[in-house]
Amino acid sequence: MVRTLYAKLSLVLILLLVAVGLVYVLLSLSSARHYLQEVDQNLGRDLAKNLVADKKLVEAGRINQNALKKTFMDYMVINPSIEIYLLDLQGGILSYSAEPGKVKRNTVSLGPIRAFLDGKVPYPILGDDPRSHDGRKVFSATPVPSMESPQGYLYVVLRGERYDTVESFIKDSYAWRLSGWALGSALLIGLLAGLLLFHVLTRRLNRLAQVMDDFRQSGFTHRVPQPPEAGQHDEIGRLSQAFNQMAQRMAEQLETLKNLDISRRELVANVSHDLRTPMAILHGYLETLKLKRDELNDDERDRYLTAALRNSERLSHLVSELFELAKLEAPETTPAREAFHPAELAQDILQKFQIKADQQDVHLHLDAEKNLPFVSADIGLIARTLENLISNALRFTPAGGHVYLKVLPLDDSVKIQVKDTGCGIAKEDIPHIFDRFFQGSRQQRSSEHGGLGLAIVKRILELHDENIHVDSALGQGTVFTFSLPREHAA
Ligand SMILES: Nc1ncnc2c1ncn2[C@@H]1O[C@H](COP(=O)(O)OP(=O)(O)OP(=O)(O)O)[C@@H](O)[C@H]1O
Ligand SMILES: [Mg+2]
Repeated sequence: MVRTLYAKLSLVLILLLVAVGLVYVLLSLSSARHYLQEVDQNLGRDLAKNLVADKKLVEAGRINQNALKKTFMDYMVINPSIEIYLLDLQGGILSYSAEPGKVKRNTVSLGPIRAFLDGKVPYPILGDDPRSHDGRKVFSATPVPSMESPQGYLYVVLRGERYDTVESFIKDSYAWRLSGWALGSALLIGLLAGLLLFHVLTRRLNRLAQVMDDFRQSGFTHRVPQPPEAGQHDEIGRLSQAFNQMAQRMAEQLETLKNLDISRRELVANVSHDLRTPMAILHGYLETLKLKRDELNDDERDRYLTAALRNSERLSHLVSELFELAKLEAPETTPAREAFHPAELAQDILQKFQIKADQQDVHLHLDAEKNLPFVSADIGLIARTLENLISNALRFTPAGGHVYLKVLPLDDSVKIQVKDTGCGIAKEDIPHIFDRFFQGSRQQRSSEHGGLGLAIVKRILELHDENIHVDSALGQGTVFTFSLPREHAA
């Protein structure tokens, strides 16, 4: 069983060359024989006619039997390569020059003789060889005693038995041996060159197959450091490149899947932790209320109920934020863009927070230029973004402070800033504030907040292909900046 591609290719090449050699030998043998026959017949074309004239075989319109016998004898001795036959008009053999035992036929077909005498068919014309049952040879013939009143034919077979077999023909010819050697060496050189070429080509394929095997054995994770053959632009090079890209892609996707799995687990752990605390507190208050129903005075009961309510609010806030984030992170989510006026939206949002700001004694300012262009974005999602940013700003700004909402036109977009004069964010926290559940490394975790607001903001702007930028200094305040595309530019 032939396993490797190299062995298969070599086998095919060898078979092909042997076939080519055989076809070549057979073709040249037959054409050489054809050529020799043609030459012989051309040279001996008038032999029969000349015999009749030279040996005076016809006398007074009749065959001279004595002269014929003498001619037969002469030729058997002097030139055994030709054989002379006297035929009747039907082709029956009347007499001949060969030894009696050697002649196997009684008649010779007349078709070739007529064609020969006609002179229209090109040479060689092969006639029956009386010495064998089915052999055919070139000949010369002439009607006797005369062309005008033939009574039979003098039929001269040329080239007796000399080149009957291929071996004797080849053995005798120097030219043939020479061309045999030339053919043999040409085929051998072709074979060696072919084997070498196949070796070079299959070696590259082998290397690629080896790399693929390694990749498979590594569980499809090990990346190929130096792509083999990738520099070449032929089919094997392209194959290598495609394989490398595929392997890289697979490794990357495996990595992404792994990371995704890790972050899922973290999320589940965080969510359960964040839900469990308010749930436990809520449970505790409700249980106390039930158990000590009679011992509690009105004040205490009110305090317990308020605490239970606050925790249930926190729970529902957290759950709805989680739900919102999950919806925003679904791959099929796309923002429903529409044209709206950014200053109007800003005004609406600020109005929502006005009461809360008054309670906290924080001043809210809208700083919007006149003639602002329309922007193209999902108005509901942008409103959510502004709410999250302003609610944070209010939370972290002490009484007497200010929160500004600025809307400024740029070339192709509108810049929106939420600025506060609050406590600011520590430098080391800034890279993390957009992470889920992050609530600052210094402060205590808030009981009412889950640390999801900015994660939602970031995701919303990602969906709009925008970035959000934060600038903050501890004790001075914080600025969040993002932009939205103008309506025509979207
Ligand atoms: N304007 C701000 N000033 C100071 N710190 C801020 C400001 N905005 C955000 N932070 C910090 O970033 C953290 C994350 O904010 P984020 O809005 O994501 O969560 P959260 O407000 O704590 O909870 P949630 O928004 O889910 O109710 C906050 O806990 C706070 O530490
Ligand atoms: Mg928040």
